[in-house]
Amino acid sequence: MLATLYAKALDADLPKPILGDRLAREIVNRIDYDWSKTSITKANSPSVTTRSAHFDIWARQFLAVHPEATVVHLGCGLDARAFRLDPGPGVQWYDVDYPEVADLRRRLFPGRDDYHVIAASVTDPAWLTDVRSDRPTLMIAEGLTMYLTESDGVSLLRRIVDTFASGELQFDAFNRLGIKSQWMNAVVRRSGSTLSWGINRPDDIVDAVPGVRLLAWESPFDSATFQEVAWYYRAMARAMSVAPSLRYLAQYHRYAF
Ligand SMILES: C[S@@+](CC[C@H](N)C(=O)[O-])C[C@H]1O[C@@H](n2cnc3c(N)ncnc32)[C@H](O)[C@@H]1O
Repeated sequence: MLATLYAKALDADLPKPILGDRLAREIVNRIDYDWSKTSITKANSPSVTTRSAHFDIWARQFLAVHPEATVVHLGCGLDARAFRLDPGPGVQWYDVDYPEVADLRRRLFPGRDDYHVIAASVTDPAWLTDVRSDRPTLMIAEGLTMYLTESDGVSLLRRIVDTFASGELQFDAFNRLGIKSQWMNAVVRRSGSTLSWGINRPDDIVDAVPGVRLLAWESPFDSATFQEVAWYYRAMARAMSVAPSLRYLAQYHRYAF
């Protein structure tokens, strides 16, 4: 989560930022840390910021249609999405992450009306009882699914669909090749994390989670947000897109329920 935060701070310093998250820059300035340990640089920061910008767009689309809604933002880390989107008074927003992260958030971020931080593992069913469940609900999980086991991840999605009457699931995933080749991912390697759940295609979700309907499934390379990156990134994407397993190494998933 420090790597993704730092990528957003570096992006905010650019003359033409992709995400433009000034709060990320302010928070990085307040944390005494050797940020070079994250292996994030200005050059590779778009791998994070194009993803965050993409999920901001999808979340805005949901909130435009459902101004009275609940948002559960799972594995929020130190991401400032609630502040970037600045939803209206009809939206109850819940940021969920481990207790250590929730504690940091409470120290670093300002408060907001209708905004809540839940200190819990997303795999613990108990946190759902704290959430208002009588409105359309958006679940966003950016950079989370790959850290869960398949069984925990599927149980989580089923629980969301069973708890809330209607809404959307928006999350990114790695395919199984992405999980197998995790040792090549410097950010993951340096963080000491182990990735587990690989999702190859939307059918993996539709078959495992009754009640969901696919709305969109995209390679990050095909996202509108990717078109803003430097030419060498786009050239790499064109080369990787020739092989489906590389094109969909990472994926954006969106389902209605
Ligand atoms: C790669 S970071 C992404 C953070 C944020 N979504 C972003 O894009 O900047 C992964 C986050 O998921 C959280 N996480 C991983 N497993 C979790 C779990 N079981 N319960 C709650 N949070 C979890 C981590 O603590 C971390 O903040």
